[in-house]
Amino acid sequence: MSPTGGRHFLQIPGPTNVPDRVLRAMAAPTIDHRGPEFAELTKALLPALGPVFGTTGPVVIYPSSGTGAWEAALANTLSPGDHVLIGETGQFSTLWAELAGRLGLDVEVIPGDWRHGVVPDAVGARLTADTGHVIKAVCVVHNETSTGVTSRVPAVRAAMDAAGHPALLLVDTISSLASIDYRHDEWGVDVTVAGSQKGLMLPPGLGFNAVSEKALAASRSAGLPRSYWDWAPILDANTRGFFPYTPATNLLYGLREALAMLDEEGLPAVFARHQRHAAATRAAVRTWGLEVLCADDREYSGSLTAVLLPDGHDADEVRRIILDRFDMSLGTGLGRLAGTVFRIGHLGHFNDLTLAGTLGGVQMGLQLAGVPIKPGGVDAALEHLRDAG
Ligand SMILES: Cc1ncc(COP(=O)(O)O)c(C=O)c1O
Repeated sequence: MSPTGGRHFLQIPGPTNVPDRVLRAMAAPTIDHRGPEFAELTKALLPALGPVFGTTGPVVIYPSSGTGAWEAALANTLSPGDHVLIGETGQFSTLWAELAGRLGLDVEVIPGDWRHGVVPDAVGARLTADTGHVIKAVCVVHNETSTGVTSRVPAVRAAMDAAGHPALLLVDTISSLASIDYRHDEWGVDVTVAGSQKGLMLPPGLGFNAVSEKALAASRSAGLPRSYWDWAPILDANTRGFFPYTPATNLLYGLREALAMLDEEGLPAVFARHQRHAAATRAAVRTWGLEVLCADDREYSGSLTAVLLPDGHDADEVRRIILDRFDMSLGTGLGRLAGTVFRIGHLGHFNDLTLAGTLGGVQMGLQLAGVPIKPGGVDAALEHLRDAG
């Protein structure tokens, strides 16, 4: 039977725990989204959102999940039959590629092994070979939530520039925004895709597109059918503080509060906190004698760690025991990783002692499931937290 005292530990890599401050901010009466109070909310919110994306350009907010924001990025910038290049990093890059195919785009995948990020040289080589500039966009999942691998977006941008190729760069930051260093303008990204339910510490329900001038220009001639996702009417209504259709009013109250929290902590401190927790988690995993799925130490994710189990052990059975005994949810293995990995989310509203509790539950669960681990993983993490404070 599940324990009933204390709070549930929601340690999946998103949706993440929503801070009480944000919950309270959302628990307010819904106002007229065509009235003056709402216009003031929007006009204050939009400029506060830019710094989180590292942009001074427009950020479009949708009442949608991240998948909607994926579709919006493609539908606003591309035309039927356009060739797009997607680096295979795991389940989410695969889903984005499938979505692009369903929209009528001609999708080319650079294969990957689900343990590495996008290989910048592979992108550069493919673009260099594309002398006719048939490729219209390169799509990268910044932080692949199925594997805990963070692709090196600046190196991908550098490879695109070195190839002298005009393709747009579209980046999914759904599990990295406000957790892992990210700079839309400085890194020359054309569309940044994001969602509310991870680093932004909100419930699911908001999708975002940060848009470069180049992407905006491309949207004027892009031919894919679009209506709900069309940037133009949203950006136009936003200038007056409104949206063309009913926005997710109470989520926007929450967003205002979450942005205030991020601003109070400061983004560099937010990123450093995530890196520290990720490093402490890896220290625990290695001390247990288990393997971190990410195979390149330049690409460790700050927001989650995927842990590989030894052959013959079922990661979902470990997760089941941990949920039953300790009331903690961990991320399941997705796609081809089903059963072989579990994922520890350490992002969003999260501190040292949340990590200590999380790893305590994981260690006990592994032992109860009969996975052969060495003791001391939690101690190794605590030492890291104590000393790298
Ligand atoms: C990296 C990444 N991309 C896309 C998605 C899909 O977003 P949503 O489930 O909000 O539609 C997710 C969801 O976890 C994700 O982690």
